[in-house]
Amino acid sequence: MPFENIRFEAADAIGILTVDRQKALNALNPQTLREMTRCLRDLRREGQVRALIVTGAGEKAFVAGADIAAMSTMSVIEAKEMSRLGQRVTSALEDLPLPVIAAVNGFALGGGMELVMACDLVVASEKARFGQPEINLGIIPGFGGTQRLARRIGAPRAREMIYGGEMIDAETAHRWGLVNRLVKPEELLSEARKLAAALAAKPPIALAQAKLAIRHGLDVDLENGLRLEAEAFAVTFSTDDRTEGMAAFLAKRPAKFGGR
Ligand code: CAA
Repeated sequence: MPFENIRFEAADAIGILTVDRQKALNALNPQTLREMTRCLRDLRREGQVRALIVTGAGEKAFVAGADIAAMSTMSVIEAKEMSRLGQRVTSALEDLPLPVIAAVNGFALGGGMELVMACDLVVASEKARFGQPEINLGIIPGFGGTQRLARRIGAPRAREMIYGGEMIDAETAHRWGLVNRLVKPEELLSEARKLAAALAAKPPIALAQAKLAIRHGLDVDLENGLRLEAEAFAVTFSTDDRTEGMAAFLAKRPAKFGGR
């Protein structure tokens, strides 16, 4: 079934998922969230993509949040469903065994900022703006914001953003560690593609193990995190890429990773 509210393209092992509902600044309604879930499940199953870029269509917005018109008539039960639907998308991004790069072209608000936080790396246009404005609607973040923001930028700054609902500019987001690379608007996609291409050339099983160890390590104490790391480290020793990487180093030649 074709997508209506997102676009997906893949070439040279790089996938680009674009949220494309420009009439609502790419706001996430239930259909968009379902399309994203399906797209992420398919790309995971097909296994061709080695790095994924997530972005928003148009000049103005990455994603301006969950769709307020859709939420305005929701019951308590439907709100819980909506939250779980959005959380499934953000968790699917975090669980993808490959690097995911958010290319933030404009407003990343509410559910949009929550999408950004589920990505591994963030490249942002100097024009991007970030915020959790839910409080101004009488609600709170529901796609992971109350949990991931404090883990990303620390509880005091997360409280300030979530209680106050004010936006921050791209420069502040960069300074606070939400953004890895800040670029001119016209360079956003080329910079994200460059980063994706560099990562797509790395040994994918090692990358997946690194992602897993970092992700799950953040949720456990250091001792258990170190045990997790040792398991993930050991897995990489079962790969051809580890044999190739070490042989290439010792032979003083560039490594050619086959992805196994
Ligand atoms: N949901 C639905 N529609 C939205 C939307 C959203 N989150 N954000 C923008 N739109 C729509 C507007 O209603 C408007 O539609 P019409 O042209 O039909 O009137 C269109 O997109 C353009 O928006 P504006 O006219 O408002 O554009 P602007 O330049 O004046 O302002 C903006 C831009 C500051 C981003 C403003 O649109 C805005 O504040 N949007 C809402 C941001 C927000 O509160 N996001 C959080 C949503 S709640 C959430 O995400 C909960 C969660 O965690 C799950």
